[in-house]
Amino acid sequence: MLKIENVSVRYGRAVQALHDVSFDVADGEVVAVLGSNGAGKSTLLRAISATLALHRGTVTSGSVTLDGTRLDTLDPAAIVRRRLMQVPEGRQVFGRMTVEENLRVGGLAAEPKRRAAAKARVHELFPVLADRSAQPAGLLSGGEQQMLAIGRALMCDPVVLLLDEPSLGLAPQLIQRIGRIVTEINAGGTAVVLVEQNASMALQVSHRAVVLEVGRLALAGSSAELAASEDVQRLYLGGHADDAHETDAPARPRRILSAWKG
Ligand SMILES: Nc1ncnc2c1ncn2[C@@H]1O[C@H](COP(=O)(O)OP(=O)(O)OP(=O)(O)O)[C@@H](O)[C@H]1O
Ligand SMILES: [Mg+2]
Repeated sequence: MLKIENVSVRYGRAVQALHDVSFDVADGEVVAVLGSNGAGKSTLLRAISATLALHRGTVTSGSVTLDGTRLDTLDPAAIVRRRLMQVPEGRQVFGRMTVEENLRVGGLAAEPKRRAAAKARVHELFPVLADRSAQPAGLLSGGEQQMLAIGRALMCDPVVLLLDEPSLGLAPQLIQRIGRIVTEINAGGTAVVLVEQNASMALQVSHRAVVLEVGRLALAGSSAELAASEDVQRLYLGGHADDAHETDAPARPRRILSAWKG
């Protein structure tokens, strides 16, 4: 339903950040996007949500369509009305506004009659946002701010949710929690494009995955396939595909990508 076809992106004149990238996301699917720093993951999400212009970037060729409608020619507000929502990197919440106000902003694009149900669902997924509803968002912990940023995007009941490194900088337990939340959101029928530095978690919760390397699509396949592939093991999971068979060698810890990025 979401189709990215031969997309190339430039920032200014000098930086070509994506070269001829194609993949698609089926209805209700979770697709993970992996790749090292600067590979073009955030750029890809911006190309989908038509927010490149905010970063002085442009799609120089190719197209992005949702159910057959071109998105790359629409403005970001029109895309939100089509219920495609992006949670940008870096837990961007409105720090001086309360948790409740942040959620209300997220619901502005939703049909008024759907807002109450959306908020109930967000509170069910993230009880802490109900408990701390009247507090300024800036006082929440990093993990809670990430939950608020996701909750705010869910307020308009998205058909597609783009998540940019939701687990970045969070403790291991919270990373697993984010993974479960992605699964729960998806169980509600929302398709998710999950950009992650934690390849292990991302491959666990996604159906398919793509790997970007310096702006090009290097690998694509089912998440199980990629998790078993030697290249992905070596580069993103910190081991070798045949480690499991080396009975006399000590088990190699499965380092997460952030460690590999060093
Ligand atoms: N606003 C911008 N202006 C110029 N170049 C940019 C801009 N944003 C990103 N780039 C460049 O485009 C390339 C891809 O960047 P992008 O942020 O998409 O990578 P990323 O995979 O999201 O990296 P990270 O894991 O660090 O978030 C990089 O070379 C980066 O320096
Ligand atoms: Mg990024």
